[in-house]
Amino acid sequence: MTEPLIRIEDLYKVFGPSPETVMPMVREGRPKDDILAETGHTVGLRDINLDIDRGSIFVIMGLSGSGKSTLIRHLNRLIDPTEGAVTVGGVDVTRLTPPELRDLRRYKMSMVFQRFGLLPHRTVLQNVAFGLTIQQVETAGRNEKARKWLRTVGLEGYEDQYPAQLSGGEQQRVGLARALCTDPEILLMDEAFSALDPLIRSDLQKQLLELHRRLRKTIVFITHDLDEALRLGDRIAILKDGALSQVGRPEEILLSPADSYVEAFVRDVNRARALTVGAVMKAPVRRLTATTIGGALAQMRDWPGTFGYLFQDNRYRGVVTQDALKDADSGSDTSDHALTGLAVRGPTLTPDISLQDALPVVLESAFPVPVLSRDGGYTGILSAKDVAGILAGADSTAMGNGHATERR
Ligand SMILES: Nc1ncnc2c1ncn2[C@@H]1O[C@H](COP(=O)(O)OP(=O)(O)OP(=O)(O)O)[C@@H](O)[C@H]1O
Ligand SMILES: [Mg+2]
Repeated sequence: MTEPLIRIEDLYKVFGPSPETVMPMVREGRPKDDILAETGHTVGLRDINLDIDRGSIFVIMGLSGSGKSTLIRHLNRLIDPTEGAVTVGGVDVTRLTPPELRDLRRYKMSMVFQRFGLLPHRTVLQNVAFGLTIQQVETAGRNEKARKWLRTVGLEGYEDQYPAQLSGGEQQRVGLARALCTDPEILLMDEAFSALDPLIRSDLQKQLLELHRRLRKTIVFITHDLDEALRLGDRIAILKDGALSQVGRPEEILLSPADSYVEAFVRDVNRARALTVGAVMKAPVRRLTATTIGGALAQMRDWPGTFGYLFQDNRYRGVVTQDALKDADSGSDTSDHALTGLAVRGPTLTPDISLQDALPVVLESAFPVPVLSRDGGYTGILSAKDVAGILAGADSTAMGNGHATERR
């Protein structure tokens, strides 16, 4: 395992005049409301431990007031913790000197805000180039970069406009271009898309995923919208009253919510749309590797089922049934060719497609459908029964093998 890029350890944040004095109550697990009523202190975060992998999209979700912004603001230390440590690339940001902290914010992390946060009296180009202006990059160089990022987010031609002349979605694209323009390793996005209408929002989500695929930045993304979290997140953390309710891959959150709070979030999600084949498929079994009919019959004898998936030269050839093998075995031809001839090429799936799209395929197939990776490797199977169970809300025994990232 590689080290996580961001590590949050035993993090507590209490707002109020004398946080240390109420820490014993917080540690005891006294409810946030009680602590506020008795002491006038607000519990912002309680015992947060999290690892965020390099190059991943990590989503933080929770209701209003649950501590999302407080948490993300610890990463670039816009907020100091009451207790605990935040390390970024092995460096404890809670111990940085002011110049080191300035460099962290200038070079390593950029933030995209909910309300765009653009400078109203500067042009779009100047806004995008702003981070480079602060880095004292010369004009030609920074304008060239800014133009490139404006092109990337689809705003070529808007360079000389002012923010007020742009729609919300366009302004947020400028915000994104500005954040990317300094080429930071980490993007912090606090409800960056929440102010946008659903179509524009969906469009920007898609664009962010495309950018992420290309650039492999580490993105910490806050949202209170589960659909957005499921679509974007490699992993999702769910906060309640400043504490973590659950951290997991989208399918884990969806299929095994840790408590009633998470349950309430996932209740109305369209599972067929939100889940992918890769997230719910079972382990690949019944792989026939024999090269002759006799060999295939021997291999199949130890299996529960009466069929197998034939792979030759790492290519899927089709389903071979025991009956067909037995019929053919009475003949004399036992060559490779004969075995291949018995394979019936049925449907296959790939891990990245949604259950919704996979559903008709598995329903029409007489056998559980093999799932092949893009290079043709055998990675799992999916049956109509599995899918029915998942969509009906039955507990899943999915492989949970991290294919969530492949859904793009
Ligand atoms: N500067 C502050 N002083 C006092 N209390 C604060 C401060 N900042 C946040 N809080 C409190 O900490 C808790 C977490 O707030 P936070 O802003 O992190 O929530 P959030 O999850 O981002 O909510 P939203 O979805 O509304 O943005 C809230 O109860 C809030 O009142
Ligand atoms: Mg917030």
